[in-house]
Parts: sequence; structure tokens; C-alpha cells
Amino acid sequence: MTERGAEHDGTGRVDLSFTVDEAQRTVRVPPGVTVFDAASWNGIAIDSTCGGHGTCHKCKVRVEGSTPITRHDVKTFTREQLDAGWRLACLVNATRDLAVDVPPLTTRPKAATVGVGRQVILRPAIQKRYVELDEATLADQRTDLARLLEAIDDLEPVPDLHVLRRLPTVLRRADFKVTAVVVDEALVDVEPGDTTRTAYGIAFDLGTTTVVATLLDVSTGTPVAVASMLNRQQPFGGDVITRISATMLDPDALGRLRTAACETLAVLAEQVCTEGGVDPAHVYEVALAGNATMTALALGIDPEPLGVAPFVMSTAQPPDLLAADLGLALHPRARVTLFPALGAYVGGDIVAGMLATGMDRDKRTRLFIDVGTNCEIVVSDGDRILSTAAPAGPAFEGGAIRCGMRAADGAVEVVKLGEGVELGVIGDVEPKGLCGSGLVDAVAELVKVGLLDASGRYVADDVAKEIAPSLADRLTYLGQERVFVLHRPTPDAEPEDCVVLSQRDVRELQFAKAAISTGWTLLLEELGLEHRDVQQVLLAGSFGSYLSAASAVRIGLVPKLPVLRIVAAGNVAGEGAKMALLSVRERAGARALLEEVTYVELSDRADFNDLFVDQLSFGG
Ligand code: FES
Repeated sequence: MTERGAEHDGTGRVDLSFTVDEAQRTVRVPPGVTVFDAASWNGIAIDSTCGGHGTCHKCKVRVEGSTPITRHDVKTFTREQLDAGWRLACLVNATRDLAVDVPPLTTRPKAATVGVGRQVILRPAIQKRYVELDEATLADQRTDLARLLEAIDDLEPVPDLHVLRRLPTVLRRADFKVTAVVVDEALVDVEPGDTTRTAYGIAFDLGTTTVVATLLDVSTGTPVAVASMLNRQQPFGGDVITRISATMLDPDALGRLRTAACETLAVLAEQVCTEGGVDPAHVYEVALAGNATMTALALGIDPEPLGVAPFVMSTAQPPDLLAADLGLALHPRARVTLFPALGAYVGGDIVAGMLATGMDRDKRTRLFIDVGTNCEIVVSDGDRILSTAAPAGPAFEGGAIRCGMRAADGAVEVVKLGEGVELGVIGDVEPKGLCGSGLVDAVAELVKVGLLDASGRYVADDVAKEIAPSLADRLTYLGQERVFVLHRPTPDAEPEDCVVLSQRDVRELQFAKAAISTGWTLLLEELGLEHRDVQQVLLAGSFGSYLSAASAVRIGLVPKLPVLRIVAAGNVAGEGAKMALLSVRERAGARALLEEVTYVELSDRADFNDLFVDQLSFGG
């Protein structure tokens, strides 16, 4: 075990080298984080039953070099052990690089796998504690509250009026055998008997299009039920800009948008509780990840400043609130925790996604892309993290595309060109249109066979006949415009009755992909990196999950890398919300990202336009 480094090197991180079962693992964390938290964030298990509160005295580790000795260390270790570097991990602040020996576990902390293969050590904000209290006597006239608080003094909770109103009755009816329910520092309830096995939270991914709710048993980390539905704000417009515009045009729209968001959340909350057979009164906390506009609208905050330059948020970290404030019929004191936002267009959903993918903890150079109407991009070189947003437009969601449609039954999602055209269609039904992944595939395949040139133009008929004779007759005209016929419902159907890809569609996709690739190219440049330095690309969101990595590489949506380095990360915003429910440390990690990530505004960069024009090409 060697001590490495003195004070941290100014990069804003310190390296902790853990040795567990003779295996060594180095993790990088912000200075000041406790050794216990650093381990917990990185899925390294250290004995604990108090979850890092300094009360169980179980988190014993050996730290190389001189480290302050606390009074708890003195109580726990012998003089020889202290001299040898033994300390309680939750009381050691990592202000410099450290080497830490972690002994084998004697109590097994409960952990859950969440996010992109991440292990989260369970330390939810919801804590339930069953206590059997001494009944009051003339000789012991402590107040009901004092009696309860003394029994759970390690949690140091603050009671509220709701609890005080219930306390005398519940205590006496339950023979002073009760369960205290604490969320963060608040004593939110006292329940008769032992209810420690019923502790639930709901993680919401509040998307502009779709909202997903996951009901979690926070004591085990197990998802109990999942439900999703379209955001009821849809009638106000498909994207954030149209919804912001709605509030600017109609003074009543903000209230109606707020109601629509809250109704969506409430319907889903009810649905997951019903499906999971869980009493909503046992849901004590909600974590909500949404972009800055969705969050503002759900809270009833005027979103106009988000939609016009200089694009300013009302706050980066919305305060915690009660679920009842969002109209959710859960436990009456259930809390809502919201993710911070890095900018008007890199919101809490992306912060949640960064948490789920461990963007702040992985030493590799990684590129995170959440493709959508607004595309969020994050690049980390293992040290610095930069983020930006690129306005990609609606092409990936099927908008502004002649035969475009959302990813629903009948949407072409896979296109392969060979001797003929092979289509993958959602629901295995007659093709009706083209969704985002189908659009990317179609263009990539047409570039591959040569029917689209590097500038994105369909080649002339004679060239088409020469290079792809079996496909050339699919290249035709719809009015004045050239189109490629992907699907003919009948052999003699006219182009207007077919699923086609028009020249204008190709242009739309070119603009969208150029906006995105300009974004990540500029961020890489800021870090002094080349495309080939990227070790992993994470494609987030539902679109990212269905996108063909090979097609994304071919059209230049992502850097030209081996496809194995391109990973579909799934619904990372929802995963991040789950992590926040399961671990207060992960939640603190998300909040720390506000300090750690630099937001780069692209629109005022002088070189943006030149690079954008370069990126339009499918060549190179
Ligand atoms: S984790 Fe319990 S004392 Fe450190």
C-alpha cells in the first residue's frame, strides 16, 4: 500500500486507490468526499449498518499516511491500530490522493444494480425504524416525541405538525410499538406496529413526449412496477419550444400545462401502485428527472426565459417539495427530489443520465449523446467534463420528414439495401412510415450503395443504373422532387402512396446530424482531443437504443469508431432517478455535477458555422 500524491493537483479531483481482496481499483472523486462515500459511489462495499453516519463504527479501513484521528476512531481502535492507519471510512475526508485497504465484509451491505451496469449501495433517504418504546409512567413523563426521538437519535430527524397530530393516538393504540418514517432529515410519520418492509419510492422520467414511472421497493432496490404514457402536454406542441411559445401567447397556458404535467404524473403513480399492489400511502418519496422546460412547467414556473436568448433558468437546483404540491396522492408528507440542471438546454434529465452512466467517475474518454429535437452532448476525458446542447430539429422523431412518424406500429425502423430492400417494421405490420432509426438506416444504406453521394444528393439515373441496377428503378420523382421508394403497397402503386425517402428528407437529416457532430467535435476540440481518442460513445434515450451503431457511424452522427465502442445506454434519465431514490450519496453526486461540469455555449462561437458546413457531408 503506497501513499500517492500530496494535496490534490488542482484538477478538481483526488484519486483513491482501494485494495479489496488483493484487487486494486482507483477511483476519482471531488476533494472532500469521505472515503466511505467514494467507495459507495463506485460500488465498493465497506461494512456499515448506519450508512455512513458515523454511528455504527463498522466501516473500518486502513489508510496509508497520516490522517486525522476522530473521537470515534479512538473509541473503535487500539493505539496500535490507529498508528497502523486504521480509521472509520465515513469520517475520513479525501483531501489528497489516498491508498485505502478495505477488509472483507462482516455484514453484507445491500446493493442494487442500477443505471448502466452500476452497483448502488442502498442508502435511501427513506429510513424506517421499528421501535418498542417504554410506556409513560409517573416516574417517566418524557414527552411522546422525546421518547420516540431518543430511540432513533442516530437519524436526528425533525418532526412536523402532521406527525405530532398523530403521535399520541398511534403510540397508545399500538402499545408504544411503532415504526418511525424518516425521509432525509424529516420525521414524516409514525406508523403502528412494524412496517419496515413497506418503503417505496417512485422514479419519474418526465420526458417532453413520454413520461415513465418506476415504483421501487427502496429497502431492496427492486423495481415493483413500471408504467409509461404520453405526456398530456402533447396538445400544446411536440417539443419544448412550442410549449414555451404557448405560454407566451396565452396567459392561461402555463396553468394548463402545469395541470397536464401533474395529471400525467398522477395517473402513472396510481397505475404503478395498483400494478404493484402497493398502498400509495407507503410511497414516501419521488425522484423526478426532466429537462429544464418540463421541470419549470410541472412546477408552474414561467418558462419564457428558457426559450429566448440569453436562455436563462429560474434556478439550477429547484428546491425539494412535497408530492402533494404536484397533485400526487401518495403519503401526505411524501417528498419530491428534483435533479439540478446545467443549462436551459442541458437539464435534470441529462444530469440523471450522467449519474446513471457514471460520466463523472469513469477515466475513459467518453461521449454521451442524447439524440432528440434538442440534442444534449457531454464529453469527459476522465478529468474534465464539458456539456452542450445542439438544436437537431424534429427529424429524428419523424417530424419534417415526408413519410416520418413516431416509433409506433407500422414505422420502418430498420432498412437494409442489397439486391432488394429489406425492412424491419415495428409490430410486423404493413409499413406506414419511417421513424428516426429507419431514417438514419435508410440514408446510411443509400450512402453505402452509392445512390446518395457525399454531399447528400441522389445520383443521376444513369449512374444509379450502373452502380445499383436492382435498386435503380426505386429512384423516381414525386412531383418535382427525387425520392427513393422504400415500400410499395402494391406493385403499381404511385410514389405518393408509397413509403419514400425524399431529397428534402435527406437534407433534414443532414442538418440534424451536422448540428450534433459539430457539437461533439467542438467539445472534443476544447479538450484537445481527436475523434479517434473517444473510447466509448453512449447513445441515450429511447431513440439511441434503437439506432444502428453502424449507420450512425456511416452518416457521421457519431465519431468514426469501431461499432463495439458505441453503446445504447437506454433510458438513463429514469435510471438516474432510481439511483437518487436508492442512495442519498448518488443524489449528492448528481448535485456535485453542477460544480464539475462546464457548459459550453456553441451559438456564439465564431467557428461554428464553418464547421457546421463541413459536417453536412456524408464523406470522410
Ligand atoms: S458507516 Fe457507520 S460508522 Fe462509518
